[in-house]
Amino acid sequence: MIVSGAILAVRRAVTRWRRKGQRVAFVPTMGAIHRGHLSLVSRARSTADRVVVSIFVNPLQFGPAEDYRRYPRPSRADRQLLQKAGVDFLWRPRTSQLYPPEHRTRVRVTALSEGLEGASRPGHFEGVTTVVAKLLNVVQPDDLWLGQKDAQQARILEQMVRDLDVPVRVRRAPTVREPDGLALSSRNAYLSSDERRQAVALVRGLRAARQLLRQGVRSAARLRGEIRRVWRRYPAVREDYVEVVDARTLRPVRAVAGRILVAVAARVGGARLIDNFEWSTR
Ligand code: PAJ
Repeated sequence: MIVSGAILAVRRAVTRWRRKGQRVAFVPTMGAIHRGHLSLVSRARSTADRVVVSIFVNPLQFGPAEDYRRYPRPSRADRQLLQKAGVDFLWRPRTSQLYPPEHRTRVRVTALSEGLEGASRPGHFEGVTTVVAKLLNVVQPDDLWLGQKDAQQARILEQMVRDLDVPVRVRRAPTVREPDGLALSSRNAYLSSDERRQAVALVRGLRAARQLLRQGVRSAARLRGEIRRVWRRYPAVREDYVEVVDARTLRPVRAVAGRILVAVAARVGGARLIDNFEWSTR
């Protein structure tokens, strides 16, 4: 595994592979690598010849009151996990290289960035789209792998790639979970043991909603009510939002039809957690 922070080193490696006709897949991350990230790597490996992973805790996507400074950065462990997973290139850019003081450009995807996470975290997605546009311009991969865990992020990046004519195929991988259902996240590390037990509320609420969908319930209000009813059993869980939206437009729906996204966010102790599932009536 090549490990480097240099843009030029990434470009050189990818150009060499491309010349040999090899297919290159890219998995952008902020590190604190867990099995969710590794599942993206393993899918990337099975569909391409070379896998590039970036680790960059992107200051642009954190709000002033958010966890940029305390975000976990276990760089040795990350490197070992990615090496074992068969990554070809680990790119760890420096903040000063991606954002020199004279950096002025922002990439913003309208409408899709405004609801859900965008409403709770102003400027967050502008930070995400700006950095991913930059990363894609450096790596120029054939495939970009993203997790369903961050469904809105995936939807926005799919739109960005289409709108900016970026020649990359965007692929989504399913959410990887703990045995009790909690979605893996670098932020789970912030949970105390009691909070960790209660964090399962997110997936339990979503599963209860999915059960209603299977029984034929189509009212978004009923689905949201059911999630909130489940959450009442978990006093440490404080709702940020519970939403049922169209999976393509991300606009709230009143009645479920076509493909929908049920998305939730909550604070559990000092951590802010999100989870979701998609469902189709077709
Ligand atoms: P990060 O939170 O490190 O996530 C990197 C990728 O891993 C994202 O595509 C995310 O959806 C995926 N992922 C996270 N947890 C997952 C899980 N439990 N199962 C499956 N996939 C999971 O998302 C970001 O970083 C950043 O916003 C980034 C795209 C790198 C831009 O800075």
